[in-house]
Amino acid sequence: MNPIGQFIDAWNDPAMRHAMVNHFPIVLSIIGIPFAVLAALIGRHAKAMRWMALAFYVALMASAFVTKDSGDEAHDAIRGSLSDEAHEVLQEHEELGEKVWWFAGAVTLLLGVSFVRTPKVRVPSAWVAVAGSLFLAGWVANAADHGGRLVYEYGAGTPDDIAQLFASADSPADATEDARVAFFRNQVRPILATHCLRCHNPTRAKRSGGLDQSTIAGLLQGGRSGPALVPGRPDESLLILAVRHDDPDLQMPLGEGKLSDEAIAALERWIADGAVWEPFEFARSRNPVPE
Ligand code: HEC
Repeated sequence: MNPIGQFIDAWNDPAMRHAMVNHFPIVLSIIGIPFAVLAALIGRHAKAMRWMALAFYVALMASAFVTKDSGDEAHDAIRGSLSDEAHEVLQEHEELGEKVWWFAGAVTLLLGVSFVRTPKVRVPSAWVAVAGSLFLAGWVANAADHGGRLVYEYGAGTPDDIAQLFASADSPADATEDARVAFFRNQVRPILATHCLRCHNPTRAKRSGGLDQSTIAGLLQGGRSGPALVPGRPDESLLILAVRHDDPDLQMPLGEGKLSDEAIAALERWIADGAVWEPFEFARSRNPVPE
């Protein structure tokens, strides 16, 4: 894909769009400081400089508003894909982020007031604007730090194809490994979680053919009939035979209809690709079983 196509693709992804626009308020909040200081130092002289400072903070306010908006869209797009811990960071990030345009507006207002002729009003407001610009930059840095942690620690909003795009630049092997983990996480794990884990979990495995599907070890070891899967060989994997309803005596998920063709194909592809696994915590509360 050409760079422009890549850019448009990224722009159409809310999380990526937010990642791009957020740099405007970050940069502006830092460059704004010397402008505010200069505007205060030169007082009534050099009107152009004061207009510049004002324009800067208007731009900062607008870009912070746009960033907040794109952040809301990004939040909607990645909803549900975050751990509880990441969710807390996201909440703090949002609380910090949504106030940036507000503070930028306050600094803009103070800079505006510093245009009046009365020195008694002009001078203090100019210096309060300077203090405001410093405070604002610190605030933005804190919000940005939370945002950075979300992306780099928790992988928030980094879709598999884009993660792959970056990874493939230096290491194709890593990229396919990442893609397989992502495939497991996004396509396979949800099937297990929705249709299998409520019975095939550590506490209920005994009653479910002895098969625990919450770990790869459990699947490899299998249940009463032996290994539930053979990596690379879907046709020899009991799990696949069970979901295909090939054997009238073993039709899974028990008590539910057959899985969709897409779901079965996803399980087959996952096993054919080596059954790459990513450990996860089995939470009973999220997979309740009516006793
Ligand atoms: C409602 C509970 C329930 C659900 C949901 C369920 N199973 Fe089972 N499963 C069982 C029970 C009970 C057995 C043992 C009885 C049997 O072998 O027929 C079993 C046995 C199996 C076995 C054979 C284990 C062995 O070694 O004999 C496999 C493989 C299996 N299930 C796969 C799955 C898969 C894959 C899913 C999800 C798509 C699933 N099951 C969903 C209850 C369930």
